[in-house]
Amino acid sequence: MRVSGSLRVPGDKSISHRALIFGALGTGESRVTRILQSADVHSTAGVLRSLGVAIPQLSDDFVVRGLGRSSLRQPTEDLDCGNSGTTTRLMAGVVAASKLTATFVGDASLSKRPMRRVARPLEAMGAQFELPENGGLPMTITGGSLHDIEWNSEVASAQIKSAILLAALVSGVRAKVSEPVRSRDHTERMLSARGVALAVDETTVTIEADSAFETLDTEVPGDPSSAAFFAGLAALASSGSLRLLGVCVNPTRVGFLERIKSMGARVDFENARVDGGESIADVMVSPAQLKGTTVVEADVPAMVDELPLLACLASRADGETVITGANELRVKESDRITAVVSNLRAIGATAEELPDGMRIVGSDRRLAGKVVTHGDHRLAMAFGVLGAVDGNAIEIDDRDCVSVSYPGFWSDLASVRG
Ligand code: S3P
Repeated sequence: MRVSGSLRVPGDKSISHRALIFGALGTGESRVTRILQSADVHSTAGVLRSLGVAIPQLSDDFVVRGLGRSSLRQPTEDLDCGNSGTTTRLMAGVVAASKLTATFVGDASLSKRPMRRVARPLEAMGAQFELPENGGLPMTITGGSLHDIEWNSEVASAQIKSAILLAALVSGVRAKVSEPVRSRDHTERMLSARGVALAVDETTVTIEADSAFETLDTEVPGDPSSAAFFAGLAALASSGSLRLLGVCVNPTRVGFLERIKSMGARVDFENARVDGGESIADVMVSPAQLKGTTVVEADVPAMVDELPLLACLASRADGETVITGANELRVKESDRITAVVSNLRAIGATAEELPDGMRIVGSDRRLAGKVVTHGDHRLAMAFGVLGAVDGNAIEIDDRDCVSVSYPGFWSDLASVRG
């Protein structure tokens, strides 16, 4: 397979959710350009509308008119978060600090995902939670005025960190949050850019009480987790190169790009710039015979969403790849350890599950068979990349689930081949 040309991947999902939420909580107008228009972001827009915010129909360029931090209204319907963990957990922080009662619901996958990780700190701040026995959805929150908190999170998670920071922002209290390894820091960057009194010290973030909070326009940069699929495709190609335009290369997000470079691919950042507090670059990727690699716990947060793809690449690399310290993969949109390993085996690759990760032995044999995605968008795209390699014949059971984060994925995949 030859790759060529350039591609602008859609806007970053994490920044898109936050641009809507911060726009809604600000006082006045904020313009959002290049937002990701995918199912997950539509979920956040829908939840904000249910809470009384006038979010217009999403487009490439629109304005949010926020009425301030305490403007959310009692909803008359459940808050439907669809498949989106980010919508649920970030908005849980906002609702916990608002004087209202709301029930969060979602699809079958989201309803099984762990919500006690946000309920516990938000309860410690003073909100009330009702959760089903399995700790998932439906989750009912009664919010109100909260108090200061110092919280040590057992897992590195931007969603937990952001839920606490948002609760503190809305209720005007102080919060100090620590995590074992630094997770993506878009909330911190976007809040600081909006004048919020926030300090970051290694893996600890502190937001001060009664902080200022201004509105700001957001131009959403390209999503590195979406760009990763095309970087992976270019690395596996037999010839050519791909240029990925305007990708967010925030250090907490580029673990995958750095890793494929260390595995042998040619990866260059060009035209680097800083915009809205985020580093952005065009990413050039050319193929190479990849070598296996070792991923440990400290590496995981910067490539957490890319590990299914890394595992697919590892199946074509020389030697063994071992991923450990990745328990979080078990509680993503699917159990991504079991699902990735069973699918790799189903198409003829050598892979085994580890309690907190997986082991893959690469080969150049033809991979063929049917992949079961469990409706998980990242599995569909990771195996879609592997299926594009010459000789492979991989059928994906649910191609449409890519709409969660990248509705145009299959046509973009077709456009860069050849
Ligand atoms: C996200 C954080 C990550 C990531 C998810 C988006 C965010 O989840 O997997 O796709 O926007 O904060 P965790 O923070 O729970 O690991």
